[in-house]
Amino acid sequence: MSKNKFIAYENVFDEATLRGIFKLSGQGYFEAIEGPISTGKESNVFTVKYKDEKRVAKIYRTSANFKKMYDYMKSDPRFSGIKGTKLTIIYAWARKEFRNLLRAREGEVNAPTPFAVHQNILIMEYFDAPLLQNNGPKDPKMFYEKLIKEVIKLFKAGLVHADLSEFNILNYKEKPILIDFSHALDTRYPNVQRLLKRDIENLVRYFNKRGLKLDEKTEFERVWVHKK
Ligand SMILES: Nc1ncnc2c1ncn2[C@@H]1O[C@H](COP(=O)(O)OP(=O)(O)OP(=O)(O)O)[C@@H](O)[C@H]1O
Ligand SMILES: [Mg+2]
Repeated sequence: MSKNKFIAYENVFDEATLRGIFKLSGQGYFEAIEGPISTGKESNVFTVKYKDEKRVAKIYRTSANFKKMYDYMKSDPRFSGIKGTKLTIIYAWARKEFRNLLRAREGEVNAPTPFAVHQNILIMEYFDAPLLQNNGPKDPKMFYEKLIKEVIKLFKAGLVHADLSEFNILNYKEKPILIDFSHALDTRYPNVQRLLKRDIENLVRYFNKRGLKLDEKTEFERVWVHKK
């Protein structure tokens, strides 16, 4: 990556993050940062250039609310041993999203393939698609059926998304792509039933506003029946 591009982001990121970006680009995961797609609560999301393609770099800010991340992670059996400083927690959070995405992809869920994680930086597949929130489905019933199949696949792979709504679903040519997996939890998590219910409620609310007559309990059961 060119030194100039590097300098352009110096105001956004601290030294350690800049070194991390440099390391990942040195390892060949991308060639240059292109531009920002989104500035979220805890992260900045950029497209990056990789050969003739784009990839996504999601960079958690080191000023993120790590206490909330910690509270959330400590009940997940995969991260229950986690302790340490602010950076340890934020880096674990990025690793958690990476591992969630890997597991989702192993379960053949429509979600970005993750390529690398280093410190607070996650590199993943880019989809040139709008959020469902900004681009509603042409055929809500068909879209919903595709979507619930993704939720079931994810559940069978051992995960509940836990932040699912029209804000974390892309409409890729009328096909749902799930994104933003940092909250996703192992199905062995004690509160998993409540979190799955909330995900389903969000979807049912969105699709019932668009003419469907879904019943929350029925839709929840369609997923929960696969609990091991
Ligand atoms: N793989 C991707 N392909 C295309 N666009 C993406 C991808 N990942 C994220 N985006 C875009 O970036 C936005 C923010 O990403 P994401 O939802 O993962 O983070 P966030 O909501 O900001 O999370 P947080 O609150 O943890 O900071 C999304 O709404 C979407 O527009
Ligand atoms: Mg999001």
